[in-house]
Amino acid sequence: MADEHDTIDALLDEQRTFPPTAAFKEQALVADTSLYDEARRDDEGFWARQAADLVTWHSDWHTICEWELPFSKWFVGGTLNVSENCLDRHVAAGRGETVAFHWEGEPGDTRTITYADLLTEVQQFANVLKGLGVGKGDRVNIYLPMIPEAAVAMLACARIGAPHSVVFGGFSAQSLTDRINDAEAKVLITADGGYRRGEVFPLKPAADEAIADCPTIEHVVVVRRGGNDVDMVAGRDHWYHELMDGASADCPAEPMDSEQLLFLLYTSGTTGKPKGIMHTSGGYLTHVAYTHKYVFDLQPDDVYWCTADVGWITGHSYIVYGPLANGATQVMYEGVPNYPDNDRFWAIIEKYGVTKFYTAPTAIRTFMKWGAKEPAKHDLSSLKVLGTVGEPINPEAWIWYHTNIGGGRCPIVDTWWQTETGGMMISPLPGCTTTKPGSATFPLPGVSAEVVDDEARPVLHGGGYLTLTRPWPGMLRGIWGDPQRYQDTYWSRFEGRYFAGDGCKLDDDGYLWLLGRVDDVMNVSGHRISTAEVESALVSHPSVAEAAVVGANDDTTGQAIIAYVTLRGGLDASIDDLRTHVAHEIGAIAKPKTIYFTPDLPKTRSGKIMRRLLRDVAEGRNLGDTTTLADASVVNELQRRAAEVPTED
Ligand code: WT7
Repeated sequence: MADEHDTIDALLDEQRTFPPTAAFKEQALVADTSLYDEARRDDEGFWARQAADLVTWHSDWHTICEWELPFSKWFVGGTLNVSENCLDRHVAAGRGETVAFHWEGEPGDTRTITYADLLTEVQQFANVLKGLGVGKGDRVNIYLPMIPEAAVAMLACARIGAPHSVVFGGFSAQSLTDRINDAEAKVLITADGGYRRGEVFPLKPAADEAIADCPTIEHVVVVRRGGNDVDMVAGRDHWYHELMDGASADCPAEPMDSEQLLFLLYTSGTTGKPKGIMHTSGGYLTHVAYTHKYVFDLQPDDVYWCTADVGWITGHSYIVYGPLANGATQVMYEGVPNYPDNDRFWAIIEKYGVTKFYTAPTAIRTFMKWGAKEPAKHDLSSLKVLGTVGEPINPEAWIWYHTNIGGGRCPIVDTWWQTETGGMMISPLPGCTTTKPGSATFPLPGVSAEVVDDEARPVLHGGGYLTLTRPWPGMLRGIWGDPQRYQDTYWSRFEGRYFAGDGCKLDDDGYLWLLGRVDDVMNVSGHRISTAEVESALVSHPSVAEAAVVGANDDTTGQAIIAYVTLRGGLDASIDDLRTHVAHEIGAIAKPKTIYFTPDLPKTRSGKIMRRLLRDVAEGRNLGDTTTLADASVVNELQRRAAEVPTED
């Protein structure tokens, strides 16, 4: 029996480093440590400077930050209008003809929308909402595909001070019902349908089913996109294009309080009902504009593309609010990466000359499965910075991304943050940080993070829990309707600290390595081993594209490591090869007891691996809640295989 471990073992030892090139530094917004130095001297003053530089205010704040643990207010007393910051000021500055969105539908249809176009449409739609009785403080639900109207709807809400609650278009009617009822929304904005994998998926029928149980909904606005047949209820349902037809394009932006609720966004978590995460205006906008600008090293001629859906926080912060506040030109794409073929993303990058590209590790591992021949079909030389978010990125996936997408020349920004943090918290600055594959590196200037052990003592080397020690402008202001749950969920595990729920290790050079959710940490013979490290060891085998590991009850070792592995297209490996490889990479203690090969892993609709379900499979239990699963057939197949494959010892 090994000795007691308080924290999480640090096993993976990744030594490769990637300093920014001289050519990149030459043109970078930040090529030295000046921002870090400034923020270290006075973090509130630093944020205040960002708020003054990047945001236009109607009236000044009197207090930068009011902090009554666990509640913060930022730029108190200041007023602004978020939609004015994203639109009017760019048009007023003579940039009305700058493209805001190069939108591309999945079937290949396109729209080019300038800042002037967007401002007109947002003002019209803001007037439409007013006409439907929506006023300041009223909640509006949005359930749309990835079409420009999603951004228009969000900005129109922001313009009139009506908080929006966007529900991802892939969620079921029941999820929509729960979220509408929790927010008590008055209006729902949806579409007939949208395109996905070459077919129209219906949204309005799901919306109809959902609102049958939503007494607060008075009106439904329907955008025509899919062309599928829908039922329209007279008096309640309205076509977007018909309402817009008669709407005035003049809706002056009214100043809103800095702490005006901008939106609710529901996060599911592992248990309990979804939490309505609250984000407000001035601090949030400052945080997302600042991080978008510096983390992507935003330049005037950039074409930026974030592949997230607007239904997630990444879409809110890094498609709508951050990039538009910065006046950026973006690509917005409606569909999946493999329609009509596996090279769709690379075709889009080539077509629009994308310079800054932001996607998720799960997507990168899928691209690895499809092979480097896909990106090789296209000229990707426009790319300058690559980003990732959503999960720890395995070092080998990082290297694949760097080599095959970035041509070996683009810095990678691995950005750690959460729905709750509003914006990026831990990330390299591409002109200044030497990166290490798999590490999100350091807290951004203005952010204070600390790794602690079970007793909340700072860990200076090795594994522990990631906490945030100071309030930040984009932080959640609470959980809608449940302040106690806010306190319990985020502020009770370690006194005075925000606990994110993630494991993290610090290396000798002070780099932070995210280790996954602490709920997933495995305990093998008293060693606490992170899923992320074993998965990265598996993915470092040349034949492996993706891996998920879980700890399953074991009579001898407490828990045993069970691995589910997807191979790269056309390649092979034996169970023995992989076990030996893991032992060699990170140590015998981390050798999986059993390995199953599978073409796919169970994932949430946002692409996170659902290890909880894999534990159910491994321990032979009936599956728990599967409602957040993107494709249920994947686990059924794994259950079938679990019954067949013998265990290796
Ligand atoms: C959780 C938050 C933030 C937008 C998308 C997800 C994991 C996120 C990273 C990263 C390691 C990451 C964490 C976090 N996560 N980014 N760069 N490295 N893990 O938002 O759905 O609120 O999920 O995603 O576990 O807590 P979310």
